[in-house]
Amino acid sequence: MCGIVGCTGNQSVTPILVESLKRLEYRGYDSAGIATLNGAEIDVTKIEGKISELESILNFNNNACVGIGHTRWATHGVPSSTNAHPHVDCSGSVAVVHNGIIENFQALKEELKGRGHIFSSETDTEVIAHLIEETYNGDLECAVRDALSRVDGSYAIAVISDNEPDVIVAARKDSPLVVGLGDGENFVASDIPALRKFTNKVIYVNDGEIVRLTRNNVTVSTLDGLSVEKSVVIASGSVQDAERGGYEHFMLKEIHEQPKALRETMEDRLYELEGNVDFKELRAIEHAIEDIESISIIACGTSYHAGILGKYMLEDLVRIPVRVEYSSEFRYNNPLPGNKSLAICISQSGETADTLAAMNEARSQGYLTLAVTNVDGSTITRKADEILLTRSGTEIGVAATKTFTAQLLTLYMLGVYIARMKTLIDVETSRYMISSLKAVPGLIESLLDDINNIEKCALQVCEADCCYFIGRGLNYPIALEGALKMKEISYIRAEGFPAGELKHGPLALITTGTPVIALVPKGKTYYKMLGNIKEVKARNANVTAVANNSDDEIPKYVDSVIRIPDIDELFSPMLTAVVLQLLAYYTAKFKGAEIDQPRNLAKSVTVE
Ligand code: AGP
Repeated sequence: MCGIVGCTGNQSVTPILVESLKRLEYRGYDSAGIATLNGAEIDVTKIEGKISELESILNFNNNACVGIGHTRWATHGVPSSTNAHPHVDCSGSVAVVHNGIIENFQALKEELKGRGHIFSSETDTEVIAHLIEETYNGDLECAVRDALSRVDGSYAIAVISDNEPDVIVAARKDSPLVVGLGDGENFVASDIPALRKFTNKVIYVNDGEIVRLTRNNVTVSTLDGLSVEKSVVIASGSVQDAERGGYEHFMLKEIHEQPKALRETMEDRLYELEGNVDFKELRAIEHAIEDIESISIIACGTSYHAGILGKYMLEDLVRIPVRVEYSSEFRYNNPLPGNKSLAICISQSGETADTLAAMNEARSQGYLTLAVTNVDGSTITRKADEILLTRSGTEIGVAATKTFTAQLLTLYMLGVYIARMKTLIDVETSRYMISSLKAVPGLIESLLDDINNIEKCALQVCEADCCYFIGRGLNYPIALEGALKMKEISYIRAEGFPAGELKHGPLALITTGTPVIALVPKGKTYYKMLGNIKEVKARNANVTAVANNSDDEIPKYVDSVIRIPDIDELFSPMLTAVVLQLLAYYTAKFKGAEIDQPRNLAKSVTVE
């Protein structure tokens, strides 16, 4: 969840570290720090707070050309300048930044203390600095290798030593790490956006690999000391992807990027005339997919909500059992063998620790694994049997938006793909579905053109302590997602329910004026939804309906209406989702909340 960076080069490193850390701040933002090699000394500056606060106290007038930096999401010890990284050894000769968790740190700390080491933080990371101090014998890479042989857990680390002024040593196990190759300078970071301004040439570091960087050279070897040949990849995406581009927040920019993200995600995959979806990426496993008899969808958070929609839609189209499981539950719940089963693992970041572990578990149980992710080159893309990329571009806001609708689209396309392959739907039905999917980006554009009523509704919700979202069928997971978005960025207690479940408990929460957002596109449960709206109105709730443009009946039942373009109920979730993203966004904005970096959260959840 933390972000690490490092640079060894030929120009002042402090501005480079700050710039890189800003691009990684979505990973964690409770404290930050840098260590630079200034002559024969390591200078460490760290604070509780954001990178901008760190920037304001840094000395930019130094000649240091080598340094490491960190932006933290606290796990061991409160956010404070003491617990902020980098951490140093007793003499301040070695500095370390770390993303991950050292599981046996307590035992190591006791052992090291017993040998006279003095610790200054509550973190697990600090043991690494002291272990390196103990084994350092003039070769930093060797000392790091020895230190890592003692630790259990996950890590991406970058280390400098004042004895080797040109060198950074980095290593990875179960936490992401990439190397960037520059001209007379080389970089290391948790993620590509941190490097993108300086280079597009990257090397993905694998688990169990250790990297030694100098300004002119990069070598990679295994923890056992075997040299590894790595290929250099040209990173996609542009520097602008990681900028707000005139929008007040990344989240708003990313909401508005949805039509583009969906068009890119369907590009080259939808063949309306033939009534076919073509996933070239899946050709190698086509026959295995044709034979599958069940599907498990495994994911966390927003991706899990996409998974619920996937279950409803896939069961309807493909007529085989589909289970949706939280990654953190699946991995520890002794999953059943997955013979002739497909595990669809959804993760926009491709780095979520629980989803990666659950996917490993699924594979060991015999599942065919298919990853749906937005980040090409992420860990999940290198571990799944096959991958489907959502092509949404970089998503910086912690709240997932464009990647969510692109996940929904991908699941719809997958549904049509499998249903056609198993000849469960005819060409006409498939053509209709494809043309409906193709229309969605344009419909989202027209929805985004008029958001007045969404802002009005947000003005009401931002005064409330709680709010509830109800929906049925494919709009039930969107109700869950609307509630997650609302609580995540506005801090208002929000829950989503299947509308039919209200009377089995949640109705007790409704009092006069409680905001209820009801997803009521025209469709087979429309009149059931009207009945549920009546139930909450009878308890004096303040109901806002999200309903089709042509629905003249709905105003009689509710206090206000947010309109979406007319669309087949089957595809309406991609529109109702956008409405609820905007509702959460404006509610948070009116409350003055920190939209792109909500408290206690991070974009990429690389710890379990
Ligand atoms: C979404 O708004 C959240 N930030 C969060 O629930 C997220 O979807 C979850 O952590 C899973 O992330 P992933 O898709 O990268 O695996």
